[in-house]
Amino acid sequence: PAHRDDYRLGYHLSPPAGWMNDPNGLVYFRGEYHVFYQHHPYSPQWGPMYWGHARSADLVHWEHLPIALAPGDAFDPDGCFSGSAVVDGDTLYLIYTGHRWLGEPGNDEQGMKQVQCLASSTDGITFIKHGAVIDTPPHPDIMHFRDPKVWRRGDHWWMALGARQGDDPLLLLYRSRDLRRWDCLGRALEGRREADGYMWECPDLFELEGRDVFLFSPQGLKPEGYERWNLFQNSYLLGRLDENARFVAETELHEIDHGHDFYAAQTLLAPDGRRLLWAWMDMWQSPMPSQAHHWCGALTLPRELSRDGDRLRMRPARELTALRQSRQALTIGTLEAQSRRLEVRGALLELELELDLVGSSAERFGLALRCSDDGQERTLLYFDAMARRLVLDRQHSGAGVSGVRSVPVAPGQTRIALRIFLDRSSIEVFVDDGAYTLSSRIYPRPDSLGVGAFAVNGRGVFAEGAVWSLADLKL
Ligand code: FRU
Repeated sequence: PAHRDDYRLGYHLSPPAGWMNDPNGLVYFRGEYHVFYQHHPYSPQWGPMYWGHARSADLVHWEHLPIALAPGDAFDPDGCFSGSAVVDGDTLYLIYTGHRWLGEPGNDEQGMKQVQCLASSTDGITFIKHGAVIDTPPHPDIMHFRDPKVWRRGDHWWMALGARQGDDPLLLLYRSRDLRRWDCLGRALEGRREADGYMWECPDLFELEGRDVFLFSPQGLKPEGYERWNLFQNSYLLGRLDENARFVAETELHEIDHGHDFYAAQTLLAPDGRRLLWAWMDMWQSPMPSQAHHWCGALTLPRELSRDGDRLRMRPARELTALRQSRQALTIGTLEAQSRRLEVRGALLELELELDLVGSSAERFGLALRCSDDGQERTLLYFDAMARRLVLDRQHSGAGVSGVRSVPVAPGQTRIALRIFLDRSSIEVFVDDGAYTLSSRIYPRPDSLGVGAFAVNGRGVFAEGAVWSLADLKL
């Protein structure tokens, strides 16, 4: 049996013990970034939700703080569900969903009551609950009604809520002057079950370089070709929030990340104007072998969002270069239908390199990561020339996991630039400066530390790159 620290992440946020899901209440308060998260401290399974809490001055080193919210009051008896945070003057406010099961705990069919609640803190550590501030949905047929995202626009506080009416998803907007009395502005956007899923969880709505972004986590999207393979799929639309508080979409729905484990993303506005994003680096249906070691769930690395036409780009937060320890050149050169082990080993690595498509003729070529010496385990990242796609293959990535994900490579493209972050049980790939990302959990054995390169049926050309071992902060 595996040692209990085998999968413990070195530089990603995960719960000290117990269960973690969505990031909540991302906020910058008195010189520090605060991250809260959906947390069940008593077991590595989802249960009555608490808000776990950590903070950091530099986005790299994190300090775990006491649990911020615990369920059990009349307005949140069965859970403090997802929500957000804002700062007003000297006070930090949390806005979250109070959850009550109407029938058996965990039984959606027997119904639930969801209300939006307020809590506040002046020290950023201890919170006082103020009870429900929105206790009835705007229509009696709306039962799923949750995940308030609050922000300041002009003279008002605005709130976006995800909802479900019948089988169709909804985005609802509210407005307030004091965070306590809220006016419903109605439906900012309505979806149809078939095309858009049946419930939009964890909405976020913010401006980015002149456009409004609606980021959300739809439940129940159908797979389409290479897209939407996760049962729930974090997505976004670009458009604008008009004078009537309607969101006018100007693009198609896009997935924000193309890996296996990415959900419920939320953002904050950093003091320097950057829009930073974190997601839950798992999925409701993900295998979670670390549960055997009494914890599970992690957040992605913080990412900087930018816009490139109708698409979002995600780059690793620039602060993360502080994780870099020793640097080694990554000189692979040309492989002629062969594979090679590199003089690189490690579980916590950052690799930066380019695949040269012009000089290459291989059917597929790329990297093998977290390889075991017996050849049983490996995580592959390679260019597939026939499909013209970059593929992340975790079919041999250790306990419980499987599956292949990929992103397109444009017809005229001559190189693929890769920046890869490996931690003990995760891989995050930033492709072409964040034009695409793939985030997945992997669970190789702790001694599967090898790195290799390969080319199948032809030549693979690798431009000179670099690899860093990354700090083991034992977050
Ligand atoms: C999303 C979600 C939210 C909810 C929370 C409960 O993953 O289902 O809609 O508030 O998790 O933990």
